Order: sequence, then C-alpha cells, then structure tokens
Amino acid sequence: MSAEELHEVAVTVNGTGYRVRVPARRLMSDCLRHDLRLTGTHVGCEHGVCGACTILLDGVPVRSCLLLAVSADGAQVTTVEGLAAADGTLSEVQQAFSECHGLQCGFCTPGFLMTITAGLGQRPDPDEQQAREMIGGNLCRCTGYQNIVASVLRAAELRRGRDAAPGARPAGTAAAGGPPAGTAAAGAGPAAEAGG
Ligand code: FES
Ligand code: FES
Repeated sequence: MSAEELHEVAVTVNGTGYRVRVPARRLMSDCLRHDLRLTGTHVGCEHGVCGACTILLDGVPVRSCLLLAVSADGAQVTTVEGLAAADGTLSEVQQAFSECHGLQCGFCTPGFLMTITAGLGQRPDPDEQQAREMIGGNLCRCTGYQNIVASVLRAAELRRGRDAAPGARPAGTAAAGGPPAGTAAAGAGPAAEAGG
C-alpha cells in the first residue's frame, strides 16, 4: 500500500505558529488533538451536531470536526487552551462557568466556552432568551442548560465590568497576554491516524 500524500499546513493556534504535514482528509479536530497535542478541544458526535469541538477560526466559531486541517492553512485559530491569560487568569466566560456551576462532567464545556466567547463579541448584553439562542447549537447531556444560561449572563456582566475598568484590555479572546508567536514544528512525519 502506498504512503498517503501529506500536505503542509501552517496555522497559528493561540498565538503560536505551527507547521504540520497531514493527509488531505485530516480533520482539524484530529489535527489539534493528535498532531498538536491540544486536547482541550473535545470530539463528541464527529458530524457537526453537538458543538463540543467548536474552535474560533479567524475569530469565527466553527466545528472543527467539519473542517479539514488543510482548509485552516494560514488561519488564526483559538482553542479553549487560549482563553485564559498567560498568568492563568480565567477569561470572563470561564470565570462565569466557575461561579455559576455551568458544567458537570465538562465534556461539552470547551465547545460552550468558545461559542459563548464568540457570541458575546457579537452580542455583549444578551437577555435570557438571547443567551439561550446563543448556545442553541451546543448540546449538553448533564446540566439541563439552566446554569449555562446563567453563565452566559454572568459572563456578559463580567465583560462589561472589564470593559468599563480603567486601562481595560481590548475585548478579544485568545492569546490575550499569551506568549509571543513562535513557530513549532509538529507532526513532521507521517501523521498517525486518529485512534478509533
Ligand atoms: S464533535 Fe464536532 S459537532 Fe460534535
Ligand atoms: S457538562 Fe456533561 S455534557 Fe455538558
């Protein structure tokens, strides 16, 4: 059997540049988890339904299980690992989940955090119905959603407080205060197939 052709992908994830060589059919979710060892992005349904694999691609939330890694060539990606500041300070959305008990098993949580981070950028002052609509594309099997809705509203409150503070950092997500961009080689060899 001939070796599968590999394609080089240059992508910036949470402020760090990576070059990986992957088969054309490599999913971005698998590239993050297996090639870059960023396992914060979770994979649930693997066909675009649950939202657990949500990442930000050039600031836009996308389902990484529906994105081919080669399609992310040249993109800026933010994963859940990029939400907290370099000193470990939680983002407002993470802080709100902690305060409001917005998770139980936590499997769905990375996807919710990314969806809400992007959602609040679009709608910084949602009411409860708008908070529910914001998370309408993410599934959680544990919480019944009530505490996640409360987390959205609390995160919005925290963000408004941050933005009103003197010397507030600009609204944004990843890599705020993170390490400077560098380049790391990853997956230089034939990429292993995702474990199944
Ligand atoms: S794993 Fe991607 S949407 Fe479910
Ligand atoms: S907290 Fe368990 S699936 Fe959402």
